Amino acid sequence: MELFSIKARSSREDIHISGAERIVSIKELEKTVLNILKKVNRENADFISIKIEKLDRKPIILKKSLCIKELKFSNFREANSFAIDYLSEITGIKKERLSYLIALIHSGASPNGENMRGAMIVNQRGERLELDRYRGVRTTTVDFIYREDILKRLLDLGFTERTLDALALSTKNLYNENILAEYCVSDDRDYITGYIATKEEYIRIFPLKEKGNRKGGRIYFVKNDTDINELYNYLENYPILIKDVCLKKI
Ligand code: COA
Ligand code: AMP
Repeated sequence: MELFSIKARSSREDIHISGAERIVSIKELEKTVLNILKKVNRENADFISIKIEKLDRKPIILKKSLCIKELKFSNFREANSFAIDYLSEITGIKKERLSYLIALIHSGASPNGENMRGAMIVNQRGERLELDRYRGVRTTTVDFIYREDILKRLLDLGFTERTLDALALSTKNLYNENILAEYCVSDDRDYITGYIATKEEYIRIFPLKEKGNRKGGRIYFVKNDTDINELYNYLENYPILIKDVCLKKI
């Protein structure tokens, strides 16, 4: 079956506001374009882009997403202290270095002190590998096959659409053999739930950042011998479709 990728984004005065993407069949195309337009068409946007491309290769089909788990802490400092301990165990990176990198995400990791436009990439020596530190890398071309059903199930459990999108993105990331873990805090000043993704789990952590902070970002932790161009190619171009969501730990 022919599949199409739809990518939409909006901005104002060249500042990104919102992005969304879907992978659908030709039959679903028109309806989905309208839905995605609604999603990114925020009141203050002065530019909206919708890009439709036929997939140039067969997507990899994954049976399940990472398994969702939830952890609550009394404040964002305690939550980040847990995150640093856990990420240090997984990656072997020294806690001081992790602490520095995470603080950078919370204060704007781009060289101009703003948020990066994509994720930071860090190897097991704690070295940053992005080809451009303003941009980082963006994971795209991933979706759930039965997106609406899964969204409904997640909403019924008290999760948000944001969880669904982030779960898709991190499931694609962690499927890559070179990515060991991911750390994420939103750049939305009011959204303080973040997550760590590992090879098995998507761990939602509340609160992972301080309320009111509009800085955020992602860190992809990779193996030392990662070929960086191959990694960009996988994250940006390889289509992935996920069948089901893993809820077994809830
Ligand atoms: N943050 C900041 N700027 C962004 C951005 C983001 N998330 N996405 C796009 N931009 C801006 C950048 O200026 C970018 O230029 P750059 O490549 O030099 O950084 C410019 O838009 C063009 O980006 P491009 O990647 O060509 O956009 P696109 O039209 O292919 O759309 C999106 C990509 C917006 C769909 C993608 O970035 C995105 O946000 N996807 C949603 C992720 C998601 O939720 N996936 C789960 C699906 S279930
Ligand atoms: P969000 O979860 O949308 O609030 O995004 C938080 C941060 O993650 C952004 O500020 C970017 O630095 C980064 N980011 C956004 N979209 C992507 C993506 N598709 N892939 C990797 N990083 C992203």
